[in-house]
Amino acid sequence: MSQPKFSITTAIDYPNGNPHLGHAYEKIVTDSYARFYRLMGHDVFFLTGTDENGQNLVKSAEAAGLDTKTFVDQNVAHFKVLCERLNISYDEFIRTTEQRHHEAAHEIWKLLEAKGDIYFGTYEGLYCTNCEAYYTELQAPDGKCPAHYKPLDKITEEGFFLKTSQYQSWIIEYIKSNPNFVTPELSKKEILSRLESEPMRDLSITRPSKGWGIPVPGHPEYVIYTWFDALINYYTASKPRGFWPNSTHVVGRDILWFHAVIWPIMLHAAGIPLPGQVYVHGMVLAADGKKMSKSLGNGVDPIDVVNQVPVDSFRYYILRAIPSNSNGAFVMEDLLKRHQSELGNDYGNLLMRVVKLARKRIGDEISSDGMKLEMNFDSFISDMKDSMEKREHHRAMDRLWVEVNRVNGYINDQAPWGLKDVDPEGRRRFIEVMYNGLYGIDVVSQVLGAFLPETGSKALGSIGKKLGVIDLSPKNYTLSDPPVLFPRMEPAKPA
Ligand code: MSP
Repeated sequence: MSQPKFSITTAIDYPNGNPHLGHAYEKIVTDSYARFYRLMGHDVFFLTGTDENGQNLVKSAEAAGLDTKTFVDQNVAHFKVLCERLNISYDEFIRTTEQRHHEAAHEIWKLLEAKGDIYFGTYEGLYCTNCEAYYTELQAPDGKCPAHYKPLDKITEEGFFLKTSQYQSWIIEYIKSNPNFVTPELSKKEILSRLESEPMRDLSITRPSKGWGIPVPGHPEYVIYTWFDALINYYTASKPRGFWPNSTHVVGRDILWFHAVIWPIMLHAAGIPLPGQVYVHGMVLAADGKKMSKSLGNGVDPIDVVNQVPVDSFRYYILRAIPSNSNGAFVMEDLLKRHQSELGNDYGNLLMRVVKLARKRIGDEISSDGMKLEMNFDSFISDMKDSMEKREHHRAMDRLWVEVNRVNGYINDQAPWGLKDVDPEGRRRFIEVMYNGLYGIDVVSQVLGAFLPETGSKALGSIGKKLGVIDLSPKNYTLSDPPVLFPRMEPAKPA
């Protein structure tokens, strides 16, 4: 039966430097959902990209002694390299400096203007230039940015405003009556509590033009505020591909407000259908439990990590060790431990010993003829689906490991090495046990491929299969020696 379309997005990153671990984290998580839904037979659209119109980029380019376009192009290339190194299977990489995006931003601006929801006025507020956002006194009682801990600037400016305040009760009601719109529960509560504790202010949606950004239609002396345009990227790219509405937006907690409140209001006011869900993940912290920052020198470069360990050890650690809905520290020593014990011993050895033993005593071809399946994987697949639909990928990984160890346990219990060829019954049973072991490897590797694509594909390759849509039917296997997937590693060096 064909499955519904599934569309998933990451936030688009600010290309004002090299990508950091937080960017890598979000891409790996989102990629695993995209791959899992493809595995389950959905038609998937996976979007990522870069947010390039902010005034911050002009400042960073100046500091680097480059013109803004050259600076941005250079950094975007680093983000694309990161995606390649991490095996991120995006369908599109959108850059908000593209013409098609300028057109989509204008389309939505004009719809809101025609509706009478945009007006010209003056605004005074506390502003953080790093966040490109205003903070209220409730959010920043000490006058400091809650994300950067730097004093906020008191800014008075003229420009255009979106009448967000008049949609406050609508958005509260919308979030309440669509219980899966904001997930997890904690993030939903956080957003509702903010919405219910103070009146919303209208959103300032322009900045005076300094020659960088999307000009306001009919008022080129202004550019569109970077957040207003950035959110529209999802619509720009998904609509022409037939994947708007119903996207799942994967975002960090720091940008929850814009995705759960501002974006739905913009769309609702413009008469455009809303995304399906905002899934809020936690933040990756440094090994010391603090936020990673250049000044503390506790940051981890994801490219350094994949230069030291197989990319799938990194992906595995990100997906299993950091719970899907809370913050978690990145500790290289832990990554190496899991590489050795879970990936190397549990999974790598299972594959190695079963395939090698089968080749040695049966040969390269093993047929499904006359084989009875002794392990059933139906509840495994439905548990995996359930965890992934709840956006609890760390639980899905735990469940997958139960299955890896079930197959290991089956082999240990059946002890095929004790079944001798000289005894015809022993020979028959040996083939049966090896077939079932290979079948187990086949199923867990297909599922593993959604999370660790290189591993899944190499493992399946060694039994003559490929990654694709899940297939639980019994098949014939053609065996070849598996590569060493998780070689023993030296103890951790600081990344
Ligand atoms: N450009 C905006 C997003 C616009 S989306 C329409 C932005 N960019 S960002 O580069 O600062 O962050 C991109 C994504 O990375 C966000 O979802 C953010 O939460 C996430 N992360 C940034 N640091 C992170 C961690 N330390 N851990 C996990 N994710 C984090 O915000």
